[in-house]
Amino acid sequence: MVNKIGVFSMLENKTIVVGVTGGIAAYKAAEIVSRLKKMGADVYCVMTEGAQAFLTPLTLRTLSGNPVITSMFQEPVKWNVEHIALADYADIFLIAPATANIIGKIANGIADDFLTTTIMATKAKVVFAPAMNVNMYNNPVFQENVSKLKKLGYYFIEPVEGNLACGYAGKGKMAEPENIVQYLSKFEKDDLKGVNILITAGPTREPIDPVRYITNRSTGKMGYALARCAQQRGANVTLISGPTNLDKPQNIEFIQVQTAREMFNEVTKHLEKQNVIIKSAAVADYRPQNYNNYKIKKTDEDLQINLERNPDILGYLGKNKGNRILVGFAAETNDLKENAQKKVNKKNLDFIVANDVTQKGAGFGCDTNKVTLFYADGSQKDLPLLSKNEVANLILDEVSMLLKRSD
Ligand code: CTP
Repeated sequence: MVNKIGVFSMLENKTIVVGVTGGIAAYKAAEIVSRLKKMGADVYCVMTEGAQAFLTPLTLRTLSGNPVITSMFQEPVKWNVEHIALADYADIFLIAPATANIIGKIANGIADDFLTTTIMATKAKVVFAPAMNVNMYNNPVFQENVSKLKKLGYYFIEPVEGNLACGYAGKGKMAEPENIVQYLSKFEKDDLKGVNILITAGPTREPIDPVRYITNRSTGKMGYALARCAQQRGANVTLISGPTNLDKPQNIEFIQVQTAREMFNEVTKHLEKQNVIIKSAAVADYRPQNYNNYKIKKTDEDLQINLERNPDILGYLGKNKGNRILVGFAAETNDLKENAQKKVNKKNLDFIVANDVTQKGAGFGCDTNKVTLFYADGSQKDLPLLSKNEVANLILDEVSMLLKRSD
């Protein structure tokens, strides 16, 4: 059964300010505005000078049904929102496309036009949908600006990989309007308000000696996306994470661990109050039997390291589940359905999120994922290739539905 991705009309009567900056993707702002209007939002557009080279204000004015602000000193025409009050009036401030320039300005406190001034004055949620050349995107200065803004609570809709207008191929293409609008609509959902959710993420690291360890290819992206999305939907999130290079999501309880045993201890310590547990961590099943206090020196002989079993955290949770909702993950390379279904039953799960990590765009390190959900009753839902944020929200939709059913 293919799950149709529903878009929620949570944007009804919301005031959304769409800031458009100067990039070729500016033309896509027209579709974003049109989609937001269809979902019942009240949309106001602000265009930078650069944006006007790519798209006319008339287009956005026609689609939004509201005057478009194109300069700092523009006379207000006929307003039902005061020109100057836009910052206060917005529920969501979306900048799409967001150039490296606008992101750099906001990250560094520069307010030299209407858009930057309004973004800095608003208390609304600010969401950037970056679009730029892949090398600009990867530039450490840009990445540092993004990282700084994320820490300050700004939101980012990741660009995707593709052929860029500059002739390069790579990450930097603005997310599709449909996905941007979907992100905003989920963003306004608060269906998980007050729900306690524990999420595990990342790999575990099992030390051999002070220099070496055994780990796996997990980067934690899926688990962190789940934590961010659950928090945005109102949940009280506890994230127990193995070592990753990711920024810690805002407004959640964050617990750093290294090994499977540490993860087990933290999970059991925080179990009592949880309503939902999502185990997206790639826990090492084995650890070296003996830890060497000193670096193991090489010899001419082969080296053998004996491994012993780590606790199966999910297995333990299944046995002590109570009436909690328990979601597992399965990374498989073959016999996906058979292996995943077996785990659902064996570990007493509500459902498992399974992916074939050999497939393009699925699994470790990617920003996308292609998963199938397998349920305790033997049914399954195949999801298409989606960003990890979208997958996270769809998993949370299932959780939300199960919570409603158990009410
Ligand atoms: N898991 C866990 N503790 C472990 C190993 C795995 O909690 N020691 C959890 C993972 O977080 C994931 C699920 O179990 O949610 C599936 O992990 P996986 O390693 O794929 O399954 P296993 O049951 O260990 O089976 P196998 O390694 O044989 O595929």
